[in-house]
Amino acid sequence: MTSPRTRRLAVLASGQGTNLRALLEAPELGGSIVVVLSDRPDAGALAVAREHGVAAEALDAGSLGARLSGNAEAAWLERLARAEVDTILLAGFMRILDARFLAAYPGRILNIHPSLLPAFPGTHSIARALAHGVRVTGCTVHLVDAGVDEGPILDQTAVAVHGDDTLETLTARMHAAEHALYARAVRAFLTRPFTLEGRRVVWQ
Ligand code: GRF
Repeated sequence: MTSPRTRRLAVLASGQGTNLRALLEAPELGGSIVVVLSDRPDAGALAVAREHGVAAEALDAGSLGARLSGNAEAAWLERLARAEVDTILLAGFMRILDARFLAAYPGRILNIHPSLLPAFPGTHSIARALAHGVRVTGCTVHLVDAGVDEGPILDQTAVAVHGDDTLETLTARMHAAEHALYARAVRAFLTRPFTLEGRRVVWQ
């Protein structure tokens, strides 16, 4: 598989939007963020998008908790198609995407996760790494597949855990590392061809 070199990006976010802000303010991302969608009307990410003049909408996610319901999924896909989006960036999006969503954007959905995957997938990864006593953690940008935080790894960055770290201090350094990593990984994804050898992303 080669990099699709696509350029119309959507960001899906549920939280405060610091990763979104970093992407919006990154020089030479390699594409334009044309729409930001959230499952939460109060998500800070929507305000960040509007501040940058980007279309931002909260859409109903249905009542399936961790997933988009079938009806909701159709509406989200319709909104993305209307914006002529070709690549989707998950940035703190707290819903799992099902097969129909993945099939609409094959190999073109990226996620950022606050751990060195495959360690600590799922939620509360920073707290779990700290409680586990790891000396090094970090963040991962990966392609999204049907698993949770399981797709092929595009890029990672390591973050040292200090002896006196609290959840707050480690989280602050993790976020700074995420912001640099996500922009770098998106730029590479959009501008550098790669092949997949099994799970391995091999940059050309
Ligand atoms: C980030 O730590 C991201 O890795 C995780 O959720 C957090 C979102 O933060 N999946 P923000 O909304 O980008 O500030």
